Amino acid sequence: MHADIVVLPGDGIGPEVTAAAVAVLQAVADRHGHRFAFAEHDIGGIAIDRHGDPLPAATLDACRNADAVLLGAVGGPKWSAPNAPVRPEQGLLALRRGLGLYANLRPVQPHPATLGASPIKPHLLAGVDLLVVRELTGGIYFGDKTRDAEGASDLCRYSVAEIERVVRRACTLARGRRRHVTSVDKANVLETSRLWRETAERVVGEEFPDVTLEHQLVDSMAMHLLSRPRAYDVIVTENMFGDILTDEASMLAGSMGLLPSASLGDGDRGLYEPIHGSAPDIAGRGIANPVGAILSAALLLRHSLRLEAEAVCVERAVGAALDAGAFTADLAGDGRALGTEAVAAAVIDALATACHVSELRD
Ligand code: NAD
Ligand code: IPM
Ligand code: MN
Repeated sequence: MHADIVVLPGDGIGPEVTAAAVAVLQAVADRHGHRFAFAEHDIGGIAIDRHGDPLPAATLDACRNADAVLLGAVGGPKWSAPNAPVRPEQGLLALRRGLGLYANLRPVQPHPATLGASPIKPHLLAGVDLLVVRELTGGIYFGDKTRDAEGASDLCRYSVAEIERVVRRACTLARGRRRHVTSVDKANVLETSRLWRETAERVVGEEFPDVTLEHQLVDSMAMHLLSRPRAYDVIVTENMFGDILTDEASMLAGSMGLLPSASLGDGDRGLYEPIHGSAPDIAGRGIANPVGAILSAALLLRHSLRLEAEAVCVERAVGAALDAGAFTADLAGDGRALGTEAVAAAVIDALATACHVSELRD
């Protein structure tokens, strides 16, 4: 097939990890007879520097016309002054909203080879396979903000329709898994959470009788996620809780650098990005872990291009590379770590054995 993929490298380690993911996608295209056209555009801090706008119109247009978008990360100290008139992160938020990508899928499947990198005891991690569905275009991120001499405020608002559609997406995904959904909120304090809980209850009751729904308050969820991560299948939650819980969940896998994400709306087009940020502390040194970005490329193959076999092939190749000890410094410690490009090369090498075209097409 032919696919137009927009690549938004962004800031910090963004360009390093997207280059790795593009190399893997190109290798997949070569092996499987596809043609992927990659077009790079600016977003975030680099877009502020070059165009005075963290999401230039040309970037948004290109994303709207593409089959899928692959993003690295945005932000960094250069653009983070408290009084900065415009911030890189606004570009990412505007992109998510501009493309209508309300459901952010963040799968967490600790790989046996990296259990040692997790601070959690290995026996708690065996068999963990959870999917966080984070609401991505509403809530406190997008409410009105005020600031005056005495204080500041951020409005958190959710409409019924915004809750319904993300809960539906979570339940639909749960049907392809263990049919168990945990809805996370703060209904003991927040009105938006009470609406969230009520709406989730109704949607599941009316439309997904085959799915079991459990509610959990976000504070205790933060604890349970570490003490009994195997108990969860699909976790659905609002924008900010999902942001925080998934950085926490990355420690089940062993590193922030390992987790991918897919941001989806109603159509096939999606935005794919690792959950980590621009990691200014390690940027420019060629040591960032590219696995989260590469697994995001696998999600791109699955959800936007509907190339399931190729997606599985990339996931297996990542697994094989990790099994073979292809670790960046976040997993291995400095002494025996590989660089970003070497890990990407290990994944590309592993594609040859991880998937056989004939087997995949059967
Ligand atoms: P971060 O995720 O950038 O880094 C947190 C820690 O994890 C750092 O120690 C970093 O070195 C490490 N880390 C992250 N990704 C890694 C990788 N691939 N390999 C190895 N180590 C990795 O979070 P932060 O430091 O809080 O934020 C830095 C900037 O990134 C901020 O400007 C923030 O707004 C931005 N950010 C952007 C995104 C995004 O673009 N999607 C996501 C999160 C944060
Ligand atoms: C993420 C990031 C973003 C978010 C920031 C950079 C706006 O932390 O993608 O997880 O909070 O959504
Ligand atoms: Mn985040």
